[in-house]
Amino acid sequence: MNAAPAERRPVMILDHDPELVDTVASLLERTYDVRGIPSAEPLGGLATGDMAIVILGPTHNDRATIERIGDVTRARPGLGALMLVDGASPELLRLALRGGFHDAIEVESVSSDLLDAVDALWSRLELSAVSSNGAHGGAPALAKVTTVFSPKGGVGKSVIAINLAVALSRGATKPVAILDLDLQFGDVAVMLRLQPVHTIVEAAAAGDQLDEVLMASLVARHDPSGVLVLAAPTTPSAADQIRPKDMLNILAVLRSMCSHVVIDTPPHLSEVVLQAVSESDDVAFVVGMDVPSVKNARLGLQAFELVQLPIDKVVLVLNRADSKVHLAVRDVERSLQMKVDVTLPSESLVPESVNEGVPALLRSPRSRFAGKIEALAKLIGERTSARASGVRT
Ligand SMILES: Nc1ncnc2c1ncn2[C@@H]1O[C@H](COP(=O)(O)OP(=O)(O)OP(=O)(O)O)[C@@H](O)[C@H]1O
Ligand SMILES: [Mg+2]
Repeated sequence: MNAAPAERRPVMILDHDPELVDTVASLLERTYDVRGIPSAEPLGGLATGDMAIVILGPTHNDRATIERIGDVTRARPGLGALMLVDGASPELLRLALRGGFHDAIEVESVSSDLLDAVDALWSRLELSAVSSNGAHGGAPALAKVTTVFSPKGGVGKSVIAINLAVALSRGATKPVAILDLDLQFGDVAVMLRLQPVHTIVEAAAAGDQLDEVLMASLVARHDPSGVLVLAAPTTPSAADQIRPKDMLNILAVLRSMCSHVVIDTPPHLSEVVLQAVSESDDVAFVVGMDVPSVKNARLGLQAFELVQLPIDKVVLVLNRADSKVHLAVRDVERSLQMKVDVTLPSESLVPESVNEGVPALLRSPRSRFAGKIEALAKLIGERTSARASGVRT
């Protein structure tokens, strides 16, 4: 990727109001080369490796333009997007954040906030340019992200997230991290017998100061596996301090330092979880082997569709699939109208390993549970490489 010289950092603004374009140009003129563009189309002409920022002004805060810019930025890692809003609806803001916009700034506070936001975004683009070893042909070094989710509590999300991370860390060239987004009752650290000094709260509070060096001091390392954990807050009330944009910032830093990030989640689709799901390459959707679990899974999948999260990210994981209940795998598939990708057996080793604080994969590597977790990790790896080569699985 070609980092543009500091004196000519290109910023494009899309807005019909020439006064606003002039204001933005004068606010940024010391460091940025600002020009107005009439539509999102010129952005399509940028090369994949070009670094630039696009600012979407209030006259273009519509769904179609937001989606168009989202598509263009996704295909160009060097292009960052910001939005200037004039009382935009929460729905539009959510769409923008999900579509890859990094920040939204109220027009009335441009003079105080815009330069900081543009600087922060530029630093982020530079950071990812450095860590993606050569955008031209070389595979980007950003971590793949897998969120483990279920709308039902107690179905095995955390156990699966932990063991999946351990499996993915084997042979990985960079660390694997677990981000515990069960912000009220996260127990990944406890399940690994870790006593983290810091949690996601400090990572969120660091804001734009958060970088790989700071993150390395905030994560706890599980020495037996090498897996890094950014723990959930120690008090449930701290959950409110973590906003979707904090999570995005945290995830961006983890992606640049790791080969894979596994996200554990609470049993509901909060804004932060929605954002995590939309940032993920894959979602391991966990279903338990009982009727309420299957019913909730159906509702959860419908919710994904409602908020337009691509259903093809879902890897369906049936946990405790061999439990002696009057339910068969095909009943679950029929009810969810989806094929189950991986089934995990119910084994007493799992609660034992949780109580001992040792991942089942390390405690009993030859167990059926460990074998199936390996299969899940392999499937996720294959989906990643298939996507990289443009093949759909
Ligand atoms: N395959 C399995 N075999 C036996 N026990 C299991 C299995 N999977 C999970 N469990 C047990 O189920 C319990 C809940 O697991 P876990 O905490 O991972 O669920 P969760 O979905 O993360 O729950 P929560 O929604 O409360 O965070 C644990 O005691 C765990 O040991
Ligand atoms: Mg859990």
